[in-house]
Amino acid sequence: MGLQNTDHVLDVGCGIGRTAIALTEVLDKGTYDGFDAVEKGINWCNKHIGKKYPNFKFKFTPIYNDLYNTFSQKAEDFTFPYEDAKFDKVFLFSVFTHMQIPEIKRYLGEISRVLKSDGQCLATFFLYDETRREFGTMPFPHQYEGYRLMDDKVTAANIAVSIPLLNQMAAEAGLKVTTIKGGFWRTDVEKEGADEFQDIVVFNKI
Ligand SMILES: C[S@@+](CC[C@H](N)C(=O)[O-])C[C@H]1O[C@@H](n2cnc3c(N)ncnc32)[C@H](O)[C@@H]1O
Repeated sequence: MGLQNTDHVLDVGCGIGRTAIALTEVLDKGTYDGFDAVEKGINWCNKHIGKKYPNFKFKFTPIYNDLYNTFSQKAEDFTFPYEDAKFDKVFLFSVFTHMQIPEIKRYLGEISRVLKSDGQCLATFFLYDETRREFGTMPFPHQYEGYRLMDDKVTAANIAVSIPLLNQMAAEAGLKVTTIKGGFWRTDVEKEGADEFQDIVVFNKI
């Protein structure tokens, strides 16, 4: 993914500004928008990043989550607060790994809507190969059709998605998986040489 200094970037689940801080070094002529379901992090980002970099904007979006939020808005029917075809790049670091399948489907659809026609999305997942018995260092004991859960009582804990289901959800959203790079959570990936703990997936708009 070639990030340009003029790009318009969306960071979904931007947290406490980890990605935003890195992007302040890059996006001198572009823009950054981030949103998150935890208000405290957004307030911190607006105060410490948004004030200094006026092209960096952070939005609090109250969304239900069974780990820490009781808001009525559900992720599975949430509409991103941005117009169609606004962004060149969309990032989600460690966000899809905490979502249920209907929520992931909804967010992929929204990502497709807000991406420009040549836009790309980079997101991290835990992916697994259904033909293998052992796939990674994280336990996902609860098996469902095309995905596995770490905890079947707390749905916002971690989820692992099978590659066929990932491809199917991308296609339904008007996206295509163009790159998968295994993270070092996998038993077959060495920590040295890997970029991330989680698997990295790049989607292009189709
Ligand atoms: C593991 S943290 C990662 C934060 C950030 N992306 C990073 O890499 O530092 C997951 C983030 O996703 C946010 N989140 C959870 N559910 C969300 C949702 N439905 N929509 C947007 N953000 C969400 C959480 O509040 C949290 O900040």
